[in-house]
Parts: sequence; structure tokens; C-alpha cells
Amino acid sequence: MGVSVRIPATTANLGPGFDTFGMALSLYNTLEADWSGNGQLRIEVTGDGAHLVPVNETNTVYKAMQQVFMEAGENELLTERGLHIRIHNNVPVTRGMGSSATAIVGGLWAANEMLNYPLSEQKLVELAVRLEGHPDNVTPAIFGGVVVSGVVNEKVYVKRFSAPIGMRCVVAVPDFQLATRTSRKALPPALPYADAVHNVNRASLMVAALSDGNLQMFCELMEDRLHEPYRMPLVPGMQKAIQFAREAGALAAVLSGSGPSLIAFCQEGAEQIGEALQKGFRSEGITSAILHLTPAA
Ligand code: HSE
Repeated sequence: MGVSVRIPATTANLGPGFDTFGMALSLYNTLEADWSGNGQLRIEVTGDGAHLVPVNETNTVYKAMQQVFMEAGENELLTERGLHIRIHNNVPVTRGMGSSATAIVGGLWAANEMLNYPLSEQKLVELAVRLEGHPDNVTPAIFGGVVVSGVVNEKVYVKRFSAPIGMRCVVAVPDFQLATRTSRKALPPALPYADAVHNVNRASLMVAALSDGNLQMFCELMEDRLHEPYRMPLVPGMQKAIQFAREAGALAAVLSGSGPSLIAFCQEGAEQIGEALQKGFRSEGITSAILHLTPAA
């Protein structure tokens, strides 16, 4: 049986919610899989960054599918039959918009459907978090909306909220890649107590803003001190782009996930905010593409 899944881009952290907050965006990768590979693994990739995606057994979609086949005790199907995977990418690769989460979540869900749903949703969520290494991209890719998630005693806790009404997102995608691994290496082993308090305070109040659907409050709290200051040197133009976006009327502008993309939030004035983000990157000689998106349900 052939299956088809669609998985949204995501923006993780949302400022102070490092490894905890994530939101699904209205930009999707699609994935189709069936047994038409004639006894061999066949992977075709089209769309954004297609040349960067391996088409062999190291492919992230394939590795995620393999996990489900293994957990379901159906591993031999992969060698006996020919899996054919077609991936179409709209989410920019290695730009902080959850492209690897789309591959992991897409692979897990596609494989589970091909096998007629042997694994529970909770099991798939756990596998997704384990494969990705942090929960804040995979959980909104699975549940949509704004998701607060964390791993406690090996259990994944997930709370989904609807995005505040009227929220628009302007994403500036610079023309260079930044691997999450590299961006995480820039983080310090310890930080000032006051900065930790600052983030606990903001992140907790952001949950309150979400539960009230209060867009202004949600965005006003979006100032981070745990990761953005340390990642700024890896993203030339970030400080100016954020400053210009705020001056152009953005309610907030932050690093999207581990970067290098920046995401600004507004109710109106999206065009000017996009231009302001581009101007900030340009001040360091970097060109960027602007995506006008909305939160995805
Ligand atoms: N929370 C992760 C990080 C997200 O900031 O490293 C990676 O997209």
C-alpha cells in the first residue's frame, strides 16, 4: 500500500523556551512511500536543497522508517521488498526551520501507516524525540499549533496550544547553512544566575499568555538570555536584523531554532518587517530570502 504524509516546518525555542517551545508553520514537506522499488531501496528527493539530502540508507526519512519496522518486528520486509520513497522539500535544509524534524516525523508516520498502525502515537512521539535529540521541533511537527514539551524521566510531556489569533510570521532565511550541532557547541557550560531567572520568568509567563491567547504579551516576553547571545557570532547581521525588524513594527524577532534563520512576529506590516530583516543581513553582506507564513494548526 502506498502512503502519503505532509509535515510542517517548525520554529523552535521562540526566544526563552530553549528546547521547550516550538510552533508549526504554514510551509510543508511531503513524503510518499510504497513498495515499488523492485527489491531495492529507491529514494528520490526534489525541491529545496534536494542535492544536500542523501539518497541511500543514511537518509533520515529511511532511518526513521527503519525504526518503526524494527519496533514492529517487520524488519525483514525492508530487505525482502523494495521500498520507494519520494520526498518533496519546501522547508529550507539546515536553516533552523525544522527540516530534520519533518524527515523524522514523516518517516515514522509513513512507516506506521504502511504497517497498518502497529505503534501508538505516544511511542512514535518518543521515537521522534529520541531520533532528533530534543523535542521542540518534532512535537509541533506532530501536533501543530504552539507546543510546550520536555522529556522528564524518559517520558515525553506535551502540551499543545492554539497560536494566538492574528499572528503572522516573517522568516528571513540567509543564504548560508548552520548545523544544529555547531550552533549547540557555541552554548556555554554555565551561565549567570540572573539570566536563568530571566528565562524561567519569561518562559513561564509565555505559557500564561498562550493559555489566554494574548499575542501582545506572548511576543513582549520573547527575550532570551540562554542561547541567542552565544549564537549571535555565528549569524552575521542577526543583531541588526532584529533591531531593524523591531523598528519596522515587529512585536518580536528571534533566532528560529538554532538558526541561522530569523523569525519576526506581527499582526500587520509584514512586508516592511521582511525588508528590515533583509537590510540587517545585507549590512553584513548576506543575502536572505523572505517567507511570509502563518502558524499552522
Ligand atoms: N532547541 C534546539 C536548539 C532547536 O536551539 O538547539 C534546534 O532547531
